[in-house]
Amino acid sequence: MSANPGDVAGLHPETRLVHAGTLRSQFGETSEALFLTQGHVYDSAEQAEARFLNKDPGFQYARFSNPTVAMLEARMAAFEGAEACRATATGMAAVTAAIMGQVRQGDHVVAARALFGSCRYVVEEHLPRYGVTSTLVDGTDLVAWREAVTPQTKVFFLESPSNPTLEVIDIAAVAALAKEVGATLVVDNVFATPLFQRPLQLGADCVVYSATKHIDGQGRCLGGLILASQAFIEAHVQTFLRQTGPAISPFNAWVMLKALETLPLRVRQQAHNAAIVAEWLAGRPGLSRVIFPCARNHPQAEIIARQMTGPSTLVAFEVEGGKEAAFRFLNGLKLIRISNNLGDAKSLIVHPATTTHQRFSSEIRASMGISDGLIRLSVGLEHADDLVADLERALAGV
Ligand SMILES: Cc1ncc(COP(=O)(O)O)c(C=O)c1O
Repeated sequence: MSANPGDVAGLHPETRLVHAGTLRSQFGETSEALFLTQGHVYDSAEQAEARFLNKDPGFQYARFSNPTVAMLEARMAAFEGAEACRATATGMAAVTAAIMGQVRQGDHVVAARALFGSCRYVVEEHLPRYGVTSTLVDGTDLVAWREAVTPQTKVFFLESPSNPTLEVIDIAAVAALAKEVGATLVVDNVFATPLFQRPLQLGADCVVYSATKHIDGQGRCLGGLILASQAFIEAHVQTFLRQTGPAISPFNAWVMLKALETLPLRVRQQAHNAAIVAEWLAGRPGLSRVIFPCARNHPQAEIIARQMTGPSTLVAFEVEGGKEAAFRFLNGLKLIRISNNLGDAKSLIVHPATTTHQRFSSEIRASMGISDGLIRLSVGLEHADDLVADLERALAGV
């Protein structure tokens, strides 16, 4: 097996996504091979010993690593500009490992309160079970981050833009504060996608993805990615993953690896469609709020201009008339389907208050900006005119 001889380091992101990390077998295949194997055999007992001592390069067991998974990790690291990447079975496995791998009893975590429901569960309910306290803050308020810090604070965690309200946090400012107080910053970059926002370049220590979303982008497999410096991965992530076992299946890694080749094409087109849809929604009667990261009236437009190179493929909007009106609207759609997933080639829509954020009280939902009329739309690859026509028909029936 040989590594891709072409040095892709100085090449454009699109080129890196097609070529970086390729390991070619003796058969010289054009498309990366799927190594669907649990383990590997050794030529001798001595080689097995050397491999376990990390003195002999190669693979041992798919819970630790696998050639197809390694290709995905190397390609993603090259794209993100990270020294190292580790893949996991799901996005939540990535979030959990990135945070839990860093903390121990007595430590403290500060996180933005506008989080995806499961991320918030990990911070708010799971960590305290092991003696790790946490404080949730308004992520847009730098003073609140500073006031939440204690001598035990080890990790800052945020999502930007947030799910589902597309709230944007000043990553560089929060990263600077984290450094000042001796904490690390972990950023969930799912909504921005690796194409439109680079948290590591903004000063974050670690970036996590649900690869389930735009990276697969075609609704097939679950996966997660953790990107950071080699030192961070070795200190906090590597052993946690190896010993606790949230490994990605080689098959899922292969799907993600091939999907990376088309990521820029897909995400740029989806974001283009999302901008058309957001602009159309902004002028509609019956909607009280339309949130889209590149809209001029976005509350954090100035931060977006500094830290994002494109918008998102998601649009959030509020239907007047609360839950009943929102349900009538969703049920009136024909092309756009109701689903809690996002980042897909197919446009998907969800009512967060009764699905992804259902387990929170209405007070907590209100503090996260999630009203009963709020709807989250993930814009896909259909023609924008067909999406607008579907939305128009459904809105007329509300
Ligand atoms: C922002 C964010 N982070 C993490 C996740 C979890 O990803 P997964 O479903 O792959 O575990 C999601 C899933 O919706 C998400 O939206």
